[in-house]
Amino acid sequence: MTMISTQSTNASSALSSTKVSLLSSKRNITKMINVQNDYDRYFPRNSNKNERKKKKKNDLMIRMSGTGKFIVGGNWKCNGTRDSVKELVAALNSNVSKVETENCEIYVCPSFLHLNYVKENIDDRFNVCAQNSWVEASLVDPEHHYDSTTGAFTGEISVEMLEDLGIPWVLLGHSERRTLLGDTDAIVGKKVAHARYHGLNVVVCVGESLDERENGTTFDVIYKQLKAVAKEIDDREHSSWGSSVVIAYEPIWAIGTGKVATPDQVQEVHSKIRKWLKENVSAEVAKATRIQYGGSVNAGNCAELAKLSDIDGFLVGGASLNGEDFSAICNASSIHYKAIGR
Ligand code: PGA
Repeated sequence: MTMISTQSTNASSALSSTKVSLLSSKRNITKMINVQNDYDRYFPRNSNKNERKKKKKNDLMIRMSGTGKFIVGGNWKCNGTRDSVKELVAALNSNVSKVETENCEIYVCPSFLHLNYVKENIDDRFNVCAQNSWVEASLVDPEHHYDSTTGAFTGEISVEMLEDLGIPWVLLGHSERRTLLGDTDAIVGKKVAHARYHGLNVVVCVGESLDERENGTTFDVIYKQLKAVAKEIDDREHSSWGSSVVIAYEPIWAIGTGKVATPDQVQEVHSKIRKWLKENVSAEVAKATRIQYGGSVNAGNCAELAKLSDIDGFLVGGASLNGEDFSAICNASSIHYKAIGR
């Protein structure tokens, strides 16, 4: 039985019926205990009863959802010289033995200039991921996704070039590209579809600004970003979600600011993203899609966040430039599995 079936209108009856049906499985009982312990931690017993009930229902629903392998990405952004990249690759290689890679899929995103060096020199247990790929904004006809994006586009990098170089992942829709470089929701959707058409795995970033969080439009913004992606890829045979499309929730106000979102905030957004996927794509996709959290994750705060069952990994900026810190963040996967009893 999957824990998704606990989406009842009554949280306490869902909890007791779930308990009964889980009695035969020791592993699942452990999971229930962990759910309760985490729940008590984040929503103490003296909190408002209705609020507690509402969160408990939501929390139980979330915890039954993600089935994918924990995944951690290092976004190096526009950083690095030949020497510093060489040092970072060496540091990651020497730390990789400390990383439990069976529990954690890892990717790193160097600049385009350093992609090939990193690909040639980094340990096989790291995947290499580009930070962007080009698609023409005027492509409105879905058939055009089949076209090549190589050609008269000065300064751009095509998916076909990444494919040729053997780069298996691409990061799309990062908020720095959306806010500083004009990537609209529609363009991000087309980029995702085109990259998937060529078989690249995609990490697509979503997230709200501080103003949007404060004026209560966080979910309008995120759903709009998700919709632009789903619209482009859900009706094409050649494109798929599942383990090949990872969603990175990155609140803009937490990126590079040292101000990490609280477990409560992350939990709420991740659960709603999963619910949105269930309602707008499919239940299978909602279960299989990994949702990473990004925004000031570091070696010190990753353990706390990894305990949340609905976090399927992290997207890390600043701290990914330090081999030891990044390895420690990858190892938070074992904390995650322990917390959810998997
Ligand atoms: P940060 O960046 O970890 O430095 O906040 C995260 C990101 O932008 O992907």
